[in-house]
Amino acid sequence: MMPDHTRLRRSVLYAPASNGKALAKLPSLPCDAAIIDLEDAVAPGDKITAREGLAALFEKRPAGRELVIRINPISGEWGADDLQAALACQPDGILLPKVETPRDILEAGDILDDNDARDTLRLWAMIETPRALLNIGAIAELGRDPASRLACLVAGTNDLVKETGILATPDRRYLVPWLMQMVLAARAGGLDILDGVSNDFRDSEAFARECAEAAAMGFDGKTLIHPAQIEAANEAFSPSQEALSEARGIVAGFAAAENEDKGVIVLNGRMVERMHLHQAENLLAKAASIGK
Ligand code: COA
Ligand code: MG
Repeated sequence: MMPDHTRLRRSVLYAPASNGKALAKLPSLPCDAAIIDLEDAVAPGDKITAREGLAALFEKRPAGRELVIRINPISGEWGADDLQAALACQPDGILLPKVETPRDILEAGDILDDNDARDTLRLWAMIETPRALLNIGAIAELGRDPASRLACLVAGTNDLVKETGILATPDRRYLVPWLMQMVLAARAGGLDILDGVSNDFRDSEAFARECAEAAAMGFDGKTLIHPAQIEAANEAFSPSQEALSEARGIVAGFAAAENEDKGVIVLNGRMVERMHLHQAENLLAKAASIGK
């Protein structure tokens, strides 16, 4: 099940809620979405003041851009208060860390319902532990029920490396099988899926390669840690000119009077089926929302 592409999530930038300078910079940055972080990027001693930074940002919230708040685990010391602080901000989404079972999503959803949160407030889930990977099918299945609010999965690759003991290599060879499981599960549940971050934000060549690979693996976008990464992610997760002209050709091919009731046609010596037409239409719709 391909997600609808009315909402672009090519470049999704984390910014620590405790970093006033980063928050001030957000409105000027061309990322599709931002995740304001209360969790890993905020030191224990800053957790409370970080909530104040959050409130200040949303008071004069920049229009248009999707804004998501990542809270601490609800079962822990800060999570429940984070969730209330997040609710008060009316973000587009709340990102739950360390999700391990469908129950984690359902319980957070119950709290949102009890607080009369808008239906449009969605839940995002970090997939970053071995248990989450083993339960990924059941977690993603919630995407088929809009009442669950689940909209997007986010690969937490730093945590996965730490929790499993695999070696983090430049080609991510030991992570790739798990990343592909996430993509598969997301598609089964009709969810968006975002790749994990690249820590080495000064190496733009390696980053562009990682983005291209993530796009080829089927990810909708990449989570980012630094503004320098935005442009490459936007580029990699936008349809290429080549793909667009192919898509236009497919649409034109099926639109021709002689092909009106055909299920399969031949274009430039290649078989093209009606499913390719739907794929082509999706791609063109995505390009239209990018303005390409
Ligand atoms: N969001 C918005 N703005 C950011 C930013 C971010 N994630 N990271 C850096 N910037 C801003 C800086 O404030 C600085 O702004 P200025 O031009 O007004 O001075 C500019 O971009 C250049 O930043 P730079 O000096 O290169 O980086 P830094 O040393 O200030 O920050 C990090 C480096 C890694 C500490 C910072 O990028 C960061 O905190 N990233 C997010 C980490 C995070 O959220 N992790 C959790 C998920 S993995
Ligand atoms: Mg994490």
